[in-house]
Amino acid sequence: MFPVLFSLCLVGITHVALADNARKCSYPGPLDNGEIHITDLNYLSVINFSCNNGFVLEGPTSSQCQVDGSWSARLPECEPVICPPPLVSEFGALSYRKIESGDQFVFQETISFSCLLPLALFGSETATCQADGSWTALPECKSVECPPPEPMEHGFINFALRGTFHYQDTVSYGCYPPYTMDEASESRCEKTGTWSNKPTCKAPCNIPVERATVLYNGQKINVEKIKSLQHAETIWFFCKSKTEKCSYKISTQCIDGELSVPGCFEEVSRFMSWFKKDPADMSPCGN
Ligand SMILES: *[C@@H]1O[C@H](CO)[C@@H](O)[C@H](O)[C@H]1NC(C)=O
Repeated sequence: MFPVLFSLCLVGITHVALADNARKCSYPGPLDNGEIHITDLNYLSVINFSCNNGFVLEGPTSSQCQVDGSWSARLPECEPVICPPPLVSEFGALSYRKIESGDQFVFQETISFSCLLPLALFGSETATCQADGSWTALPECKSVECPPPEPMEHGFINFALRGTFHYQDTVSYGCYPPYTMDEASESRCEKTGTWSNKPTCKAPCNIPVERATVLYNGQKINVEKIKSLQHAETIWFFCKSKTEKCSYKISTQCIDGELSVPGCFEEVSRFMSWFKKDPADMSPCGN
């Protein structure tokens, strides 16, 4: 009887002693791309593991704190979701380029697409691997035709003799002198099936004034020295103030052969110019 009781007693003491001496477990983290759910780190406490959206848990889902202060299970790993290679036919017009290294497509990885010319890409130029293992919408390659460029008045068009014009084909325009072009001379067939620009040839302007000092390209010069203005060029005329002995300047622009002289400008005959001061030589008003 005595030895049995004694040993029972001993077992009880040993057990209590072990529980009292049980060490706390240490924080096992961090868990990359996941979370560790912890209430406390005491003996027998269970912690749970979960992975962030777009990551798959590989390994144990929970772990328990053991009497010696170690965890019953190792940390799991959160592996990114893998997307299958995008569905593009091997010899099709649509192709993609992997930007990141590695031979698999992982969650949040972006690839960029291109179409074989002359096909044009419609939709997003990139696609991203999503948390559910699918790709965002893939683009499409479509054929685009532009109409033959229309003939240009006072000018010409350079292009290859060809029946049809496709996406990214270019034509270039030129104007016969003295006409000048109002836009870039090159035009490109766009995705929309239209030409990027349609320049026109604009006429130069004669200046309908014989005697005047004008401001042209930042310089005061005699208007006789300017043979003509090109389309969109600007000159400034000097007008005399009606009330003060000063002058102000007014600009006018050549618009396709038309140049209007400001109403306030008074042309002075050669004879009268001996007596009258040129407004361009007067002090500017408002100074
Ligand atoms: C761990 O998961 C179990 C079972 O789902 C749950 O009962 C327990 O509360 C969780 N513990 C923590 C710390 O989240």
